[in-house]
Amino acid sequence: MAQQMWAGRFAKTIDQAANDFNASIRVDCRMYRSDIVASIAHAGMLGAQGIIDPRDAERLQQGLADVLADLESGALQIDPQAEDIHMFVEQVLTERLGDVGKRLHTARSRNDQVATDLRLHLMEQIDEIDGAIGALAAQLVEQAERYADDIMTGYTHLQRAQPISVGHYFLAYVQMLLRDCDRLADCRRRTSVCPLGACALAGTTYPIDRQATARALGFAAVGANSIDCVSDRDFVIELAADVAMIMMHLSRLAEEVILWCSSEFGYMELDDAFATGSSIMPQKKNPDIAELVRGKTGRAYGNLMTLLSVMKGLPLAYNKDMQEDKESIFDSVDTVLACLRILTPMFAGAKLRTDVMAKAAEKGFINATDCADYLTKKGVPFRQAYKTSGQLVAYCIAHGKSLNELSLDEFRSADANFDEDIYRAIDLRACAASRISEGGGGVASVRSQIAQCKLALQARTE
Ligand code: ARG
Repeated sequence: MAQQMWAGRFAKTIDQAANDFNASIRVDCRMYRSDIVASIAHAGMLGAQGIIDPRDAERLQQGLADVLADLESGALQIDPQAEDIHMFVEQVLTERLGDVGKRLHTARSRNDQVATDLRLHLMEQIDEIDGAIGALAAQLVEQAERYADDIMTGYTHLQRAQPISVGHYFLAYVQMLLRDCDRLADCRRRTSVCPLGACALAGTTYPIDRQATARALGFAAVGANSIDCVSDRDFVIELAADVAMIMMHLSRLAEEVILWCSSEFGYMELDDAFATGSSIMPQKKNPDIAELVRGKTGRAYGNLMTLLSVMKGLPLAYNKDMQEDKESIFDSVDTVLACLRILTPMFAGAKLRTDVMAKAAEKGFINATDCADYLTKKGVPFRQAYKTSGQLVAYCIAHGKSLNELSLDEFRSADANFDEDIYRAIDLRACAASRISEGGGGVASVRSQIAQCKLALQARTE
């Protein structure tokens, strides 16, 4: 174990078990790039402000760039005995540069350092999540386009309800994903606030330039209150909440896949490369990927609850409890990225059994509303038309028929307003096509929704 940075104040070195318990290197080592980049900006600012000799600042910047290059090439390994990534980088720098390395931590604390690193790292991760959502949404738009002209049953209460274009179904999920991107952009805006220069909690006596470091690191703003800078983890909780919401959406989508792949539905067939078999039942083809997405949603909810609980009741400013934030948020980020990245190719390879979907649509009287609407358009008040249509459904159930199979006489015995054109009015394709209201489930609406979704997806990346 290397000697502690704070050895001056202490008579003993730290107990090995206490050191292991205290350390966070195992989790925060993934922030090495953000840590080094932030230190390069800090060193540059110290030099520019004359707080350290500009030549030392240059040496620090070069030394840090070398540490980064060596970590990326594998020439330098992260020391698992180091306390955290911040201590590790400083330690290596000091070993390499001697006294110059010891100047880096002037006008800085690990408290503002860790907050800066985490914000930088999470901004990158937000961009990755946004990209992965965009790819899945684009895949779902593609499915919507492929199946725009096919008809399926829309459900409420998981009971057959009304006929819709298959594309309409997929586009509902695209809307959820677009909202998720919007939420992430909002979260990113609040994450892009630089805490560097807040130091331990109270700022510093050195003439630092916080605007310069923030600008160099690409932050949109500088944190306004040094205590808030080091004690705020709202951005972490916000991202965890956004991820929980995304996972809730993915879990619902996964549940559709699981249902649709069952023999009872038979609407979807997964590509063999994205399904699994059973160790005992030779006939099985299981939707494990979708089930895991549904299952992993629990982690995302748990992480959000962990983070809220860690922060609850903490007095200002930094407290070591806050070190616990990283494991949870990194798990949320990794989980959502893994789920998004596996669902996209899974959908690309999946096939819809549109014949089965169309057949299912013929059962369940999903044109009963259209039958009522037909009478309403002939002047019958809707409530009365609704009742007549319900009586016809009951009659059909009793006689083992569908509405289309009734004779005109049978229709007329329920209401004299029925004419030959009722058959056209309750034809499933016609029913779906006639849902022309804005955002409705008809083919024309689906076509215009597809165009709008494509524009929205494109606008995200511009
Ligand atoms: N590893 C610590 C964390 O993740 C870094 C900040 C430590 N600050 C301190 N005052 N001990 O929170």
